Amino acid sequence: MQRLETAHDLRAWRASADGTLGLVPTMGNLHAGHLALVAAARARCERVVVSIFVNPLQFGPNEDLDSYPRTLDADVRALEQAGADAVFAPSVDQMYPHGGTTATTVRVEGITDMLCGSRRPGHFEGVATVVTKLLNLVGPDCAFFGEKDFQQLAVIRRLVDDLCMAVQIVGVPTVREADGLALSSRNQYLSAEERQCAPALSAALEDCRMRLLEGDRNFADLEARGRALLDEAGLETDYFEIRSPELMAPSTDMCAFRVLAAAFLGRARLIDNMAVEAT
Ligand code: PAJ
Repeated sequence: MQRLETAHDLRAWRASADGTLGLVPTMGNLHAGHLALVAAARARCERVVVSIFVNPLQFGPNEDLDSYPRTLDADVRALEQAGADAVFAPSVDQMYPHGGTTATTVRVEGITDMLCGSRRPGHFEGVATVVTKLLNLVGPDCAFFGEKDFQQLAVIRRLVDDLCMAVQIVGVPTVREADGLALSSRNQYLSAEERQCAPALSAALEDCRMRLLEGDRNFADLEARGRALLDEAGLETDYFEIRSPELMAPSTDMCAFRVLAAAFLGRARLIDNMAVEAT
């Protein structure tokens, strides 16, 4: 597996790598959720490059940029085992060569006004900007993103469409622990006691999913019930919302939904979502 650190080396490797290319963008500290994206990329593309970059631009001033877990050596070993062809792990200076700043950013309107977008100002602008840079640097045929960050996936699909980028965006289902908790690098911020409470998030989403499948369309009541379930389990709800699969407000005659939630638990902010498809 090639270890690449500069844009120059990445471009040189890209020029020499024949066949279709898949990109898996990550911030490292890889777990089985990330490795599911690598497996999906391997199944679909002849070559796979994984980027590892903790992108300062997508962190708010009071967020966890400094404490975000950085485990590059272990990540490289995991990617070698997973069969990636290359890992691109640039420095901040490589990605933002003008003193760590960028004069150009990518803002995707509308879809970023809600859910995590309204709670984390500037977050999706940071994500959209770094993903645009990575897509421009790598020039992949396909790029792989987890449904775990469902709004992020929607933002990236929209930006690629709006900017006429010739890349196929592939969504990969969420990988969970046996008790339902979605895998996340931020789960390690949880104490042993908090870890016991954390599956309440996926359980509340599942409860809402079952009620929608049973035909309940009292969205406001269902959302209030979701918040109450989180509260009972000791989680502080950031949002609990029923939306259309495109993340718009749902209507009662729909049969497909996305239920999305975010909650604080100790130092961690956990997010999760589920698809609901009634027949
Ligand atoms: P990161 O949080 O490292 O996630 C990298 C990719 O892994 C994202 O597409 C995310 O949705 C996916 N992922 C994380 N947990 C998952 C799980 N349990 N199951 C399936 N997929 C999962 O998301 C980012 O990094 C950044 O915002 C990034 C896109 C790299 C831009 O900086």
